[in-house]
Amino acid sequence: MVMSIQLPAIFVNFKTYEKATADRAEALARICQQVSHETGVQVVVAVQDADIYRVSRRVTIPVFAEHIDPVGYGSYTGQIIPEAVKLNGAQGTILNHSEDRVRLDVLETAIRRAHEVGLITLACANTPEAAASIAELGPDLIAVEPPELIGSGRSVSKAKPEVITDTLARVRKVANIPVLCGAGIVDADDVRRAIALGARGILVASAVTKAKDPEKSLRDLARGFSRIEHA
Ligand code: G3P
Repeated sequence: MVMSIQLPAIFVNFKTYEKATADRAEALARICQQVSHETGVQVVVAVQDADIYRVSRRVTIPVFAEHIDPVGYGSYTGQIIPEAVKLNGAQGTILNHSEDRVRLDVLETAIRRAHEVGLITLACANTPEAAASIAELGPDLIAVEPPELIGSGRSVSKAKPEVITDTLARVRKVANIPVLCGAGIVDADDVRRAIALGARGILVASAVTKAKDPEKSLRDLARGFSRIEHA
């Protein structure tokens, strides 16, 4: 297993947001790094494939891809191969995000290919049942995200806490894989609740990538960890 992310962690998924693309991806990643260093909370950025190289040259916090394809060197026009992702500076990859779902067999191959080149795998699941099936495939991390709450501003930890606890119970029966949660997380209280329920971190996007002041927003999310640790 390839695993070197300090947990708990905040994974900021840049998606394809305008304020998280190209030079703005670089600037946002630098903000994430600054907050990570100042708060001591591990922040990981997941960026578009096209931005991996430029972002990974500018920050020392872990950079993830948002996706890889389960192929390698050869005649695979248009595919994102794990070798290129790794060589361009990524430490890991998100797989099977709700906005980019793949079949289970494709996911299995993608996890294996990612591990072959030393990429950490964060596999997403849309339900606790899916998380259990995905756990069988041996990713390094699992993130559960109810799709209907993504981008809603209503956090999974408040609106559907049972999704987190059910996922933890099901995954634990299969393997000892840390579970993160995401969808609608916007502030420290959402994070605190997620961690109290047993999540080892959060996957967040719009609260940071669309924020007027992303640094302020990220600092607030990071506070959700420190209050728990020092309570
Ligand atoms: O990957 C994280 C994401 O799907 C959650 O999005 O905007 O609800 O934080 P958001």
